Amino acid sequence: EIVPVILSGGAGSRLWPLSRELHPKQFLPLVGERSMLQETALRLGETGAAPLVVCNEAHRFMVAEQLREVAVRPRAVVLEPAGRNTAPAVALAALAAQEGGADPLLLVLPSDHLVRDAAALRAAVEAGAAHAAAGALVTFGIVPDAAETGYGYIRAGAPLDGGAFRVARFVEKPDRATAERFLAEGGYYWNSGMFLFRAGRYLEELARHAPAILEACRGAWAGRAEDADFVRPDRGAFEACPSDSVDYAVMERTEAAVVQPLDAGWSDVGSWSALWQAREQDEAGNVVLGDVLAEDVRGSYLHATSRIVAAVGLEGHVVVETADAVLVAPRERVQDVKALVARLKAEG
Ligand code: GDD
Ligand code: MG
Repeated sequence: EIVPVILSGGAGSRLWPLSRELHPKQFLPLVGERSMLQETALRLGETGAAPLVVCNEAHRFMVAEQLREVAVRPRAVVLEPAGRNTAPAVALAALAAQEGGADPLLLVLPSDHLVRDAAALRAAVEAGAAHAAAGALVTFGIVPDAAETGYGYIRAGAPLDGGAFRVARFVEKPDRATAERFLAEGGYYWNSGMFLFRAGRYLEELARHAPAILEACRGAWAGRAEDADFVRPDRGAFEACPSDSVDYAVMERTEAAVVQPLDAGWSDVGSWSALWQAREQDEAGNVVLGDVLAEDVRGSYLHATSRIVAAVGLEGHVVVETADAVLVAPRERVQDVKALVARLKAEG
């Protein structure tokens, strides 16, 4: 049995001003009619077991309601009293999955990615499951086509059964020069952020590489409260947990990583530029949404939600208008929106 674990705690701040603290990216219908979370929950199809969802307390009703809308009954919805990034979130999921003495495979799925070919994903999961069952921490690798700095980079090592490779090296979010070098060198994959491993194997690797996280999560789990809809780990214990991602805390350090290549029309829609790429463009290479008047504009993403946006003579730009904020940036600078939002928050 494979238990899907849906991580729904991110802020999606690079998609500001559309994505907001109380209504982040995974709850928005960014590419289709359903929200990213709903698409994720439906991705495994009828073969998928009931998912374990880990999300922030503040989003519990939105999560419950969105899953109800698509008739997905979660195995559990675990509420984080505070965001501590993905390593603790997955630890809680692993502890939840082990209740009753089982040790199932967990398929960790970010709630905010696009996968055009769900059948290809299911095939990769099936191929990776053999390695995961044997103790590997499997990640799904995407062939890179640009020196993106927002991804983890995986150097493929020795080939294994089913098209997989041992991970020779995992580098989370390299700087641009390093990413360019990896691309030129070849033999690298992007980490898709989806993982497959036994719950117990993840906890073992966490014990080895980030014991403070495991200890805090064990404490939070032991002190949990449960009702019919939600599981609430102990607030104090969880708030004391160090904040770190699976990628930095475990994947960069473990020796048990395996990469299963994935060609499934994947996009993490992690920035305005990724969204521009993922959506259908018109003849001029533009993605235009809402009330927009464009004259001599090429390769741009123009999105109006509440007023008219008029643009002249733009090339490779992003313009996103909402009722209370407007973003204007060259397409290659959209990774910087994250820092901008942090500044906005700090300066109130
Ligand atoms: N429950 C929970 N709690 N979920 C979280 C938290 C948290 O504190 N923080 C993030 N998430 C969720 C996000 O909603 C997203 O679905 C997923 O976990 C990954 O987090 P991101 O914050 O989006 O990570 P990233 O995009 O910077 O990097 C990861 O994904 C890349 C591919 O998109 C890494 O795994 C990279 O190595 C990878 O290339
Ligand atoms: Mg992401």
